[in-house]
This record gives sequence, C-alpha cells and structure tokens, in this order.
Amino acid sequence: MAKREAEYEYWGDRAKTFDEDSAYVVGTGLSDDIKSWLRMQFAPTDAVLELGCGTGTFSEAVAPLVEHLVATDMSERMLQQASAKLGQHGNIRLERENAYTTSFDESAFDAVMMVNLLHIVDEPAQVLEESNRVLRDGGKIVVVDVTNQGTPLLAGLRLGLRYLRRWRRPPSFGRNLGLDDLAQLAHDAGFLVKDEALVGETIKAACLTAYKQP
Ligand SMILES: C[S@@+](CC[C@H](N)C(=O)[O-])C[C@H]1O[C@@H](n2cnc3c(N)ncnc32)[C@H](O)[C@@H]1O
Repeated sequence: MAKREAEYEYWGDRAKTFDEDSAYVVGTGLSDDIKSWLRMQFAPTDAVLELGCGTGTFSEAVAPLVEHLVATDMSERMLQQASAKLGQHGNIRLERENAYTTSFDESAFDAVMMVNLLHIVDEPAQVLEESNRVLRDGGKIVVVDVTNQGTPLLAGLRLGLRYLRRWRRPPSFGRNLGLDDLAQLAHDAGFLVKDEALVGETIKAACLTAYKQP
C-alpha cells in the first residue's frame, strides 16, 4: 500500500468504533476542552473547510457557529460514520478529499480547520501549503493536535497503553507536535500565528490559529 493511503486506511479500519475508542484513549474531557477552544476561533460569516474530519465530532461543534462547513476525509468509512452523525446540520457538506491536494479553487475558504491530522500524516508541511492555497488572503488555519507537551510522564505512559490496547499499533507516521512545532510549521507555510493554547487537564492538545499572509 502506498505511504499516503496507509495514513487514512489505518483510521478507516478503526472508523466504526472510533468515537468510543477515542473517549477511552484520551477521555471525553479533552474532547470537550477542544470543542470549547474551537468555538472561539470562528466568525458567523466563515466558509470553513475541514480536513481529516473523521467521524465529524468537531464538525458538529463548529457548524452551528459558521456560515457553512465542508467536512472532508479520505476514508469512506470515516465519512459514513460522519454522515450518520451530521445528517441534521443543513450547513455541512461531506466530501471525500485528500488533504494534500484538494479539488477546491484557490481562495475558496475563510478558514481551514484540522483536528488530529497534522501529527498523523507523513508530510504536514504539504497539508498546510494546500490549506494556504485554498484560503483567501487573511484567511486562517485552525489546528489542533493531541500532544505529550505538558502531560505528566505517568499519564503519558498510561495514554500510550490505552492507545495500544484499543488500536493495537500507532499509525506508521505518528509524531508528537507541541505548540512550537505547530507554530514553526504554520510560519513556514506562510501564516502568522494569532492564538495558541495548550488545552486539557491531564492529556493535552496543542491548539493554534494562524492567518494567511498576503
Ligand atoms: C486521528 S483521525 C482524526 C479525526 C477527527 N479529526 C477527530 O479528531 O476526531 C485522522 C483522520 O484523518 C484522515 N486522513 C488521514 N490522511 C488523510 C489525507 N491524506 N487526507 C484526508 N484525510 C486524511 C483519516 O482518515 C482520519 O479520519
């Protein structure tokens, strides 16, 4: 299997029980903290593209606050789960799209959001370059990644054990991205960082909003 296919096939194999497994591995508290942070990042007029939406957990939180949301993923099985969850939201469209090379026009969106995508893909810089292409000048990326930054050692070890118990093995391209890593990636892709936060009580997520420079 090609490298990039492996990135989403791994998650597709886990799609049916993804929500339940995520709750077990990282806890629902972290998911709630991420949603609270995400809800502060958007304007009601925003046309938003989401990359790697998975089962749509965070699409569901953001959609009521924006003009419309195109939630995308490469895994058909993830999109099926998302469709079941998001059916009642009239302003969400689901599409199968590759985060490295989407089919959207340049400058088509006000915001591109991605949660737990950059740390699982082999080439995060390329995903951010594609995000830059589809954003209007002054548009923003809204990025969230679970990280071991700020997590006590024992809690990090327990997290790793829960991960292995549920998902058997980590994805081949998994890496740890802290706030500095996200800021560097965003800067290199032509964005100016506006807001950064480390959310979560024990297990943390690195969250960043950055604006496209003209
Ligand atoms: C760890 S899951 C996160 C899902 C969701 N954002 C969440 O946080 O609940 C990563 C998602 O990225 C998707 N994915 C992986 N590589 C991708 C690619 N190249 N293009 C689009 N989606 C991709 C996977 O199918 C999976 O749904």
